[in-house]
Amino acid sequence: MHDFQYKNDELYCEDIPVSAIADSVGTPFYLYSHNTLLNHFKVFDSAFSSVEHLVCFSVKANSNIAVLKTFINQGGGVDIVSGGELFRALMAGANPEKIVYSGVGKRVDEIEFALQTDILMFNIESTQELKVIDSVAGKLGNRARISFRINPDIDPKTHPYISTGLKKNKFGINIKKSLEEYRHARGFKHIDIVGVDCHIGSQITGVEPFVDALKRIKELVVELQKEGININYLDLGGGLGITYDQETPPHPNIYAQAIIKEVSDLNCVLILEPGRVIVGNAGILVTKALYTKKSEEKNFVIVDAGMNDLSRPALYGSFQGIQPVKLIKRKEFVADLVGPICESGDFLAKDRKMPQFERGDLVAVMSTGAYGFTMSSNYNSRPRIPEVMAAGDEFYIIREREEYDDLIRGENIPEFLKRDCSNS
Ligand code: LLP
Repeated sequence: MHDFQYKNDELYCEDIPVSAIADSVGTPFYLYSHNTLLNHFKVFDSAFSSVEHLVCFSVKANSNIAVLKTFINQGGGVDIVSGGELFRALMAGANPEKIVYSGVGKRVDEIEFALQTDILMFNIESTQELKVIDSVAGKLGNRARISFRINPDIDPKTHPYISTGLKKNKFGINIKKSLEEYRHARGFKHIDIVGVDCHIGSQITGVEPFVDALKRIKELVVELQKEGININYLDLGGGLGITYDQETPPHPNIYAQAIIKEVSDLNCVLILEPGRVIVGNAGILVTKALYTKKSEEKNFVIVDAGMNDLSRPALYGSFQGIQPVKLIKRKEFVADLVGPICESGDFLAKDRKMPQFERGDLVAVMSTGAYGFTMSSNYNSRPRIPEVMAAGDEFYIIREREEYDDLIRGENIPEFLKRDCSNS
């Protein structure tokens, strides 16, 4: 359930008409409901209340510091994959004891930053990375708590770009080699083994892949414990899917019950790294129809948001719901909702039945709270759009619209080019 509903033929976010926000901030913009964010976090967190656990929100899904703060205020931790995400998390007030650091390509400066912050643990993805973390920790006179990210070779039955737990994927350490890897890690001076980690993919709409992966991981944990390798944390990553269209993902309670059933005898603190399930349906992209046109074959509605603002449809062919902000009585037609970018891949919806939008109409692109703004870019030199958070009958600009000056920040014309005016 989310807080984007129609009242008197107008789309509201909580108690504010979306059109009133558009009048004030202009279009396009991302709009998040604080109440939905909060509820989703609470529902997820309380689903695991019968076991010792920590919900580490996956910052990559939505990294706005006001969004992070919403979860941190509830006692949540964070899952990060870069120095930049660590910086954001700290700016939002995250507790270092609740920060886990995943990712296949951690740089030395990022490792140093995380060690100096004294984060809870590094999820290690290769033997070389283990060596580097050990040596950086040694240089800093520090110790690193680690877990290995295990690749359990499970098919999560999701889009190939977002499945990560198959042996052909770049992620983690092959489960068959994992015991060896843990034995090896015991010999490192500045490493403390504290956990086992796994993340099999994203937008997963059944519990089976999670349970299958967990069964494999569990065998490993039992073996490690037999060898006297202490495993305090079992990190199961994120991946629970949401409804974009017709998908029927399990409710977090069902997902949690299936997991709890498997782990209750392991004596580990459970870590979860949800992203999409918390924020996906807590956000929309509000855009305005600029033009409509009809080719021989198709109807187009050209809006002021493009693939640089929301890349999921172009990148994954993802479905995002399209809804009018005002329920004006318009006939329906089948059309492509497209942006202003100079690429044919620049669409937000394709061959979709939608109201016959006209120039000036506001359009809501639904379920864009996850991997929306965070994957946006300045392509075609378009300033990035604002993020707004609604709470009750108030709204707050939690990230300003970029200006033209922001586009060239840090760019320089070398002196020799300034001198070379022969063509002018
Ligand atoms: N933990 C790790 C280690 C991850 O790599 C991810 C997502 C998560 C947690 C959170 O997964 P979630 O609960 O959100 O499924 N850009 C793609 C999704 C990429 C997911 C990458 N990893 C999309 O827009 O669908």
